[in-house]
Amino acid sequence: MVCEGGNSVTLRHVNDVIDVDLSVRLAGIVLSNPVVVASGTFGFGAEYEPYVDVSKLGAIVTKGLTLRPRDGNPPPRVWETPSGMLNCIGLQNPGLDGYLRDHLPALRSYGIPVIANIAGDTVEEYAKLASELERHGGADALEINISCPNVKRGGLAFGVDASSAAAVVAAVKDATSLPVIAKLSPNVTDVVHIAAACKEAGADALSLINTLLGMAIDVDRKRPALGNLFGGLSGPAVRPVAVRMVWQVYEAVDLPLIGMGGITKGRDAVEFILAGARAVAVGTGNFVDPACTLRVIDEIRDYMIRNGFRTVSEMVGLAHRRE
Ligand SMILES: Cc1cc2nc3c(=O)[nH]c(=O)nc-3n(C[C@H](O)[C@H](O)[C@H](O)COP(=O)(O)O)c2cc1C
Repeated sequence: MVCEGGNSVTLRHVNDVIDVDLSVRLAGIVLSNPVVVASGTFGFGAEYEPYVDVSKLGAIVTKGLTLRPRDGNPPPRVWETPSGMLNCIGLQNPGLDGYLRDHLPALRSYGIPVIANIAGDTVEEYAKLASELERHGGADALEINISCPNVKRGGLAFGVDASSAAAVVAAVKDATSLPVIAKLSPNVTDVVHIAAACKEAGADALSLINTLLGMAIDVDRKRPALGNLFGGLSGPAVRPVAVRMVWQVYEAVDLPLIGMGGITKGRDAVEFILAGARAVAVGTGNFVDPACTLRVIDEIRDYMIRNGFRTVSEMVGLAHRRE
């Protein structure tokens, strides 16, 4: 328990009295608490087992999966930035078969919901991956990464164009009965427009935000720092952008939201929840402290006790209330 201002006795006493329920329902699945891991920052869980009791998470969101294995981009693939990092991993992953064979059994052993993050170069690839994952019991829900380039439309990311985003969501909905969460890109002028198109196409929930497109130059090598030139910016540096987008989408689109971007503490998570997120994901924070997620869960509980909240839903979007 976090004890601020030396009031641990009071907190313990209050804790005995207040029965805090951290569980949330999201797109038809029940999470024991609102904290999940952000795709691509927790592998498939096994790497973190020495540091984290993975079964305590609200859900595990897998590394981005594609139908076939991918090697990802050439190195360097990560670069530290002020209060954040750039990455250009490029969806390195074992592909559907490797995932089902080598990772799913361990993932299932944690006993928590598995949300598979899926990606593809065409709408058809997304749909095929979704139906195969369902057929093999590979996920309890799907998170669609629409930040991938749509090869049929000149490589423009699905997520920056409302009709492309809607097309991929609709195709995945058609291909599966699993809950579908569309993960929005922040690299757009109007995130609400894309969010509304995803809802219209049948999305059951939205995740936001993915990384912000950025770049760094290595002044010692006098070359771009990343092998892929550009990369995705994440970490505390992006949190205000993410909170703003969660706020805007909450006001305009009636869907449950998973908020992420720079969460490393319980108070960061609460900020997203008050802005409108029903669940939160921790990404870059896992690299700084592998047990970050469990601390965030405890700190949300402490915040709720201190502020008299019994359920997470009481807090969702509370900052929007009119005086
Ligand atoms: C190394 C790395 C790999 C990532 N891989 C994926 C991915 O495969 N699919 C995806 O949808 N998002 C991916 N992301 C984005 C994160 O899931 C998250 O949306 C973003 O980093 C913002 O959260 P954070 O600031 O807590 O990291 C990745 C982020 C990082 C840092």
